[in-house]
Amino acid sequence: MQLAVKPGQFEADLQPERRSVFQPPDRMLGRVIACDGSRATIASSIDSNAFQGPETWTIGRLISINLGTTRIVCLVYEMKATQEHWSETGPNPVHVQVELLGEVSESPGQPPRFRSGIGVYPSVGAPAHRIRAEDLTLVHDLGLREAVTIGHLTQDESIPATVCIGDMLSRHFAILGTTGVGKSSAVSLLLRKCVASRARLRVLILDPHNEYANAFPDRAVTIDADSVDLPFWMFKLEELADVVFRGRDALADEADILREVVYSARARYRAPAGQFSSRDLGASLLKRPLDGARDGVTEPATASSVDAPTPYRMKDVFAVLDELIGLHEQRWPRASLRSLKVRLEALHADPRYRFMFARANMIETMGPIVSQLFRVPDHGRPITVFQLGGLPSEVVNAAASVLSRLAFDLAVASQGAYEVLVLCEEAHRYVPANPELGFAPTRQAIARIAKEGRKYGAYLGVVTQRPGELDATILSQCSTVFAMRLANERDQQIIRSAIADASASTINFLSSIGNREAIAFGEGVATTMRLRFSELKPHELPSMAVVERKDGLWRGEPNLDEIIRRMRG
Ligand SMILES: Nc1ncnc2c1ncn2[C@@H]1O[C@H](COP(=O)(O)OP(=O)(O)OP(=O)(O)O)[C@@H](O)[C@H]1O
Ligand SMILES: [Mg+2]
Repeated sequence: MQLAVKPGQFEADLQPERRSVFQPPDRMLGRVIACDGSRATIASSIDSNAFQGPETWTIGRLISINLGTTRIVCLVYEMKATQEHWSETGPNPVHVQVELLGEVSESPGQPPRFRSGIGVYPSVGAPAHRIRAEDLTLVHDLGLREAVTIGHLTQDESIPATVCIGDMLSRHFAILGTTGVGKSSAVSLLLRKCVASRARLRVLILDPHNEYANAFPDRAVTIDADSVDLPFWMFKLEELADVVFRGRDALADEADILREVVYSARARYRAPAGQFSSRDLGASLLKRPLDGARDGVTEPATASSVDAPTPYRMKDVFAVLDELIGLHEQRWPRASLRSLKVRLEALHADPRYRFMFARANMIETMGPIVSQLFRVPDHGRPITVFQLGGLPSEVVNAAASVLSRLAFDLAVASQGAYEVLVLCEEAHRYVPANPELGFAPTRQAIARIAKEGRKYGAYLGVVTQRPGELDATILSQCSTVFAMRLANERDQQIIRSAIADASASTINFLSSIGNREAIAFGEGVATTMRLRFSELKPHELPSMAVVERKDGLWRGEPNLDEIIRRMRG
């Protein structure tokens, strides 16, 4: 870069720092000609021969303005040549707009320190210069917080980009970016770092595209609808109703019937054998509201008694339904009772719902399920990849709800013995911005982690390519955000409003940053940081489990049965 400004009064303040013999001896870039408090204009010039190269002005770079004992760190966000024509021979004057981010101060006997905000503003004429490598390091230094390297700064590849995993996790994080920019790869990288630095952490990935199985061959177990048990009795009534009635409208009273039937079946399971005659049941079912009516105890079917995750049997559910159908004095329309029974029988027999019904009554407690889902003990694999891609679409929401609820409950009940991170890919599906979309219990379960999880060690990671469609309150609970390329103006607006310290000029870069690049904001980083994630090895990259092609050829023989099964499923 050619220097536009002749040596002057500030030159004594400039301490040339030559990182290589090829670097110009002087760091000077230009001088401040205007400042309005948070921004400044710098007059500089560019020579035709030097308009490219590492030292030239570029948008997104940090530079500094030297004020003697302090150096103001600024971000370049706009520049413009001041003349209409471009001179090929002489220097071309330019005006560069910068945003003032913070300052590095030096006091005798103390190491230099960076802090956000400006104490001393630059005067007109103050020299702007290339930022020193050590200042750049200081700007992003996490101080006493535990720093984990996840890549390098875009501006200077020699400087590692670090995050504080503890703060990133405990206040939740989000990874946002358009398709193909590297979100899932970033997840893979971050999760590896998280489990490496926190032994008590368990991670549950809700993986709608079945792409993470390949990313953690050594650190994760993969479960899918064939290998997992989520017994129907663990579902809250609302979740069960979503599975039962999704895809069709419930007939009159069907939802109420389901509620009473579940309650009665649960009561039967608890009652000692032989104590419960069908006549008693019929009598009790005739009462309104339904009551327990055994041993003289009348207990209304409250939400908690219907939702308590205690087992009951499908056989009792069908028996109760039959008895209701056989009652003389009908409380419910027979058509609704029959329709519910048919629907439950169909689900019960459907092989796609095996994970809910097949072994449900062989499992009497939640112990083995929690142990399988949350890796207790972990045997060196603290990550569970739950492949939702194999589940019927109408069950995905309910399963996500059950799992998020369990994660929260485990963290609370373990009293600090375990921390649980729920990583939600395609989070806008579960917690959509539109309150009329999505599924209320899932939204509730995820919102609960976002709002209260921190106290108990339940954490949330959300990933989406459509931040505009994600519930804004969930996003605002994510205190660390990795914003990757986002071309859509509306999505940029969302980030701008969700992140307090996101300066307007930083957000403007989001439409043009490269793949694997991100701008990281918030609690987990020292200052807003533009970084490039480390390159993952091929075996660490997430990828679609079924579609495996190499050099245009299928690796191995594609399995047609498997393809058909998936098409149907
Ligand atoms: N850190 C990385 N190291 C190596 N390759 C990467 C990295 N990040 C991204 N890539 C490359 O970019 C491709 C796309 O990345 P990825 O699947 O993570 O994007 P995505 O944002 O999750 O996309 P989608 O929105 O479609 O899910 C990867 O298959 C990989 O080839
Ligand atoms: Mg992805």
